Amino acid sequence: MTETASRFQRIADADLAWLGSAPVPARAYYDPAYFECEREAVFLRSWIHVGHVCELPEPGSFLRCDLEFARASLLIVRGRDGRIRAFHNVCTHRGTRLVEEASGCRSRFSCPYHRWTFGTDGALISAPDFEAFHLDKQDCALPQVRLQECGGLLFVNFDPDAAPLREWLGSYAERLEQMPVARATTFSQYSYEIAANWKLTYDNFQENYHLRFIHPRSGGAGIGGDNPFGYPAQMDFEGPHRTQRIWSNPEPALLPFQRAAALRGIPALAEQGLLGRPHDRDYLAFFPNLFLIGTPTQPFSHTVYPISADRSRGVVRVYWVGEDRNASHRFAREYSLAQIRDIHCEDIAMIERGQSGLSSGAIRHIHFQGMEALCRHLFNEVDARVQAHAQQTGAVL
Ligand code: FES
Ligand SMILES: [Fe+2]
Repeated sequence: MTETASRFQRIADADLAWLGSAPVPARAYYDPAYFECEREAVFLRSWIHVGHVCELPEPGSFLRCDLEFARASLLIVRGRDGRIRAFHNVCTHRGTRLVEEASGCRSRFSCPYHRWTFGTDGALISAPDFEAFHLDKQDCALPQVRLQECGGLLFVNFDPDAAPLREWLGSYAERLEQMPVARATTFSQYSYEIAANWKLTYDNFQENYHLRFIHPRSGGAGIGGDNPFGYPAQMDFEGPHRTQRIWSNPEPALLPFQRAAALRGIPALAEQGLLGRPHDRDYLAFFPNLFLIGTPTQPFSHTVYPISADRSRGVVRVYWVGEDRNASHRFAREYSLAQIRDIHCEDIAMIERGQSGLSSGAIRHIHFQGMEALCRHLFNEVDARVQAHAQQTGAVL
């Protein structure tokens, strides 16, 4: 599965045969019972991306992070000791949600109901008339959720027995640390809700088969010549994770303003040493729901959080090092996010259309060809966990 320097060479089906080639059950993409198993066996046991260290620059910086799949609201805080921790955003007196703001900076967190007050390390500092409870303050700390960091990205895991994050990421941990996101100090983002299963939403970013049909205008840079579908130059698999190397079109059909926008950001990227790095054409897909791309002019992440069997929430971010230097630089950055959004808008209606067809139950199977191998790999990884969980719990699928 290697890239040739000049001519595009399609990855041979034989190299992907280990993933199988059978049709895939369609109900995995709409059935609430299947989704419930995914929630328990995948999302409550995997390391889930929740933010970036640059969002928590100083002691007391916090984020509120609501994760529908866990039915949880988390409070992610940088403590006075500099360490970042995640807590359930739930007062230990009688369960009131502690913080409503999306983010901010505080030295302590007071529950509005009866003023139990917690420190940035989650410890209960004070509570009015506390002696009347006959409790030990040490037993009243905010419940903690495991949080670990790699390459600037923060991940949580609801499973106390899960292997550490670096073990989970395998060799991709080092790749992640070499990507622009690892040095980012700021970002811009948009989030969206979509009437589609999380895998269907995610898979749209895992295959290029649709590019020439859905993105003939915006996707010109990624298709053409001897690679009319813009298929990846390389694929790679590491445990439950996977990557593809974007094929470089030697004669990209960039519109003049696309080229102009990219050029305005390049001097700063060159000074920061972010051009020509080893993974700048790589697209890392971290199981289960995070994508990250190393392209220096467009280093973006996309995380798809499941809400229900047929509804998801996505967050797209472009990460940058340092503040904008001038209007021209700002334009390059703004354009970068706008372009992603522009392309993504072309996808969204099609993904929802796919969901409405699948949810009708009219077809029993869907099909992946070799160049949709990343989608198949995701399904295989999910399904292995779902089937094992169903066997353990007696869930009927
Ligand atoms: S519920 Fe928080 S102080 Fe009472
Ligand atoms: Fe697309």
